[in-house]
Amino acid sequence: MSTATRKGRLPGEREDHYMRLKGAQIVGTRTLLAVREDIRAAIDARAMICVHGTAGHGKSLAVNASLRELAPTTTHRVVFRARPSTRDLRHELFHALGLPGRPPSHAIEFDRMLRGALEERRVLVCDEAQWLSKLCFEYLRYLWDDTDTDLTIVFTGGNGCFEMLQSEPMLESRVYAWQEIGPMPLDEVLAVIPAFHPIWAEADPDLIATCDREAAHGNFRAWAKITHHLTTGLDATDRTRVDEELLRWAYSKLTRRAPAR
Ligand SMILES: Nc1ncnc2c1ncn2[C@@H]1O[C@H](COP(=O)(O)OP(=O)(O)OP(=O)(O)O)[C@@H](O)[C@H]1O
Ligand SMILES: [Mg+2]
Repeated sequence: MSTATRKGRLPGEREDHYMRLKGAQIVGTRTLLAVREDIRAAIDARAMICVHGTAGHGKSLAVNASLRELAPTTTHRVVFRARPSTRDLRHELFHALGLPGRPPSHAIEFDRMLRGALEERRVLVCDEAQWLSKLCFEYLRYLWDDTDTDLTIVFTGGNGCFEMLQSEPMLESRVYAWQEIGPMPLDEVLAVIPAFHPIWAEADPDLIATCDREAAHGNFRAWAKITHHLTTGLDATDRTRVDEELLRWAYSKLTRRAPAR
């Protein structure tokens, strides 16, 4: 079984790359370094933190890479794809924590079991936390507030997550650090992209700058997607280097065109 399929576990490094892009390396962006420092401090303080921002800028990868280094065996991940009820949340936690047996059918028993499991030191990552309702946030706060638990919580998600946490004074006041993740500026793109993938290692910086200006806009998922198309294009055309013509061909794959009438 791959690490990705083991519920609640941190994904392996390869699974963090967009479409498991072959040859891609994790690079030390400012986002990654800032998130790692925040998570380190949060674990020391057993705090709640929130890493938020728009899609594709590297939030999940930064959180996962940091925790593979800082808390590889004590991290448990829950990822939300639709709005869960508190009952769903209890079940997600049960599975993410790898608790034995069947989930209890009564809420009181369930809460006792979860609180007991959280007496051991744990880091809980709630990814895509913008899907959590106020009640779910409240439930996590209840677990975290319990003086017997030893819990660090990392909320990661789109801006809805930030807004939800900010709108609840009980939660907002408990969040130890907020980290907003934005696009990489051009100087950072020029520094990290050559190390990200071998196709960029020897590329002309002007070509990288053109690609960022015209298509990637400092968004790491866009960089990974373009790189994926380019590796296919290089193979298909027997080229050894990326040039402007190939780059424009890759862009043509990214833009959605209106259907012809
Ligand atoms: N530091 C990095 N090094 C290498 N690749 C990176 C890095 N950060 C991000 N990426 C690439 O960008 C992709 C998108 O990153 P990630 O999934 O972390 O974005 P996100 O901010 O969590 O987006 P979403 O809000 O949609 O969940 C990754 O799958 C990976 O391919
Ligand atoms: Mg993410």
